[in-house]
Amino acid sequence: MIRVTRKVEFSAAHFYHNPDFSPEENRRVFGKCNNPHGHGHNYVVEVTVAGEPDPATGMVLDLMELKEILQREVVDRMDHRHLNYEVPELAGKVPTCENIAALIWDLLEPRIRQGRLDRVRLYESPDLFADCTADAKADAAPRAPGGRA
Ligand code: NI
Repeated sequence: MIRVTRKVEFSAAHFYHNPDFSPEENRRVFGKCNNPHGHGHNYVVEVTVAGEPDPATGMVLDLMELKEILQREVVDRMDHRHLNYEVPELAGKVPTCENIAALIWDLLEPRIRQGRLDRVRLYESPDLFADCTADAKADAAPRAPGGRA
């Protein structure tokens, strides 16, 4: 199995706030990231797809199609947006690197028709990133009532 990765960048603003916390708790937990005026990041997304190269094309998937999917699902949706206000899928969630990576996984996974989505890595800055993988999504899936861990 081969893993192929495409990278895409977008710039967006956010701030961290949980309406269930008091103003003091928000400030304590989120620090300067709680400033309601927000701040910006230049995000970098690395999307990895795993599969066997097609013998005829030598490719795991059509990379032009992957580029179009990333443009449509990630860049068009998030670039130069305020993530707290302009991305409905993040409503009610703190727009952390972790939550945005998980959202990008959810947006891309149904669109990948050749190979399978293996990892979404989202860099919020050069020294901070979050990974979302199939294992992570499986761990987070709600369990059936009475089911065991
Ligand atoms: Ni931030």
